[in-house]
Amino acid sequence: MTGVLEFAHLPHPSPASAERRGEVLADPGFGRYFTDHMVTIDYTEGRGWHDATVQPYGPMQLDPAAMVLHYGQAIFEGLKVYRQPDGSIAAFRVYSNAERMRRSSRRLAMAELPDELFVRSIAELVEADHEWVPAAGGEESLYLRPFMFSTEAGLGVRPANQYRYVLIASPAGAYFPRGVKPVSVWISQEYVRAAPGGTGDAKFSGNYAASLLAQAQAVEQGCDQVVWLDAVERRYIEEMGGMNLCFIFGSGADAKLVTPELSGSLLPGITRDSLLTLAREAGLEVEERKISVQEWESEVASGQITEVFACGTAAVITPVGTVKSRDGEFTVGDGEPGEVTMALRDTLTGIQRGTFADTHGWLTTL
Ligand code: PLP
Ligand code: COI
Repeated sequence: MTGVLEFAHLPHPSPASAERRGEVLADPGFGRYFTDHMVTIDYTEGRGWHDATVQPYGPMQLDPAAMVLHYGQAIFEGLKVYRQPDGSIAAFRVYSNAERMRRSSRRLAMAELPDELFVRSIAELVEADHEWVPAAGGEESLYLRPFMFSTEAGLGVRPANQYRYVLIASPAGAYFPRGVKPVSVWISQEYVRAAPGGTGDAKFSGNYAASLLAQAQAVEQGCDQVVWLDAVERRYIEEMGGMNLCFIFGSGADAKLVTPELSGSLLPGITRDSLLTLAREAGLEVEERKISVQEWESEVASGQITEVFACGTAAVITPVGTVKSRDGEFTVGDGEPGEVTMALRDTLTGIQRGTFADTHGWLTTL
């Protein structure tokens, strides 16, 4: 019974000093530093989830025949916890991440971690490493990276019967070094991230491996990120390497938010979902539909598309400026973040940081 699983706590022989922690928290960047502890929970078929442990962050042993190393059963999640004005710590939409991880598990034929255990693991790690949660009032937060992989040793190709779930944490500032300055994007016409019936709507590590070559091409072209098109017609925008995309048509009271519909091959982002709710509440018309590269370019030219932004847990909301492909380039807006983009960003981050009312029950105090 996972409901009664006790977490063992292994003492840390040499946690980071307050001075070292202070240095890291002063300029955390993204994904560069890790807190003192991690959580591991193992799964064995027939026995269920067992050996839940909060232990010092560090290397793990893996059998060379562990099936993840050969056949790639590996999934992950990403969410943030925020210091609240009263000093408490709250996670944003943690149950949505728990649910998405179970969906990813199903797609990859892996064991499903019960939501209560997912949330408990987060509460246990944040309790052990609470001093690593950045102060309230700034842009920083503590990024949590839950992940799971197959550990059974064997070379037969089939779903494994042993898995390990791990949770690590990393203090996070802006994902892009230039903060909320618009990023440039490269539209990949050569490579495809995910196809209908594939794994694109799961947070499957292989999706990211498949994206790296095109991301490297984007960088070669002087761009920050790659934008993926649909696999069949190579016309419709899907998403970026680690973020969803939103397009603002018009401005002021007539502004409309358009975002690619969930095609089955793009990740249903929790930030995307939250922003659709907040945009509707702010009186914006919201459309989830197909949007082509051609529409993007022509509606920017006609002045209809006024703002474009990327959204995701790591990226929060980041404006998109220059758009490049092998056919040429164009620029959205004037190189500064747009009004609607920044208003939605303020509302979302205000809720996350406890300065705006959380009317949707999105925060879970840990
Ligand atoms: N799309 C991809 C491919 C991602 O990796 C992410 C990040 O998690 C997102 C979209 C945005 O999802 P979320 O808002 O849940 O972080
Ligand atoms: C996230 O936003 O949590 C992501 O997983 C995106 C990226 C860092 C992989």
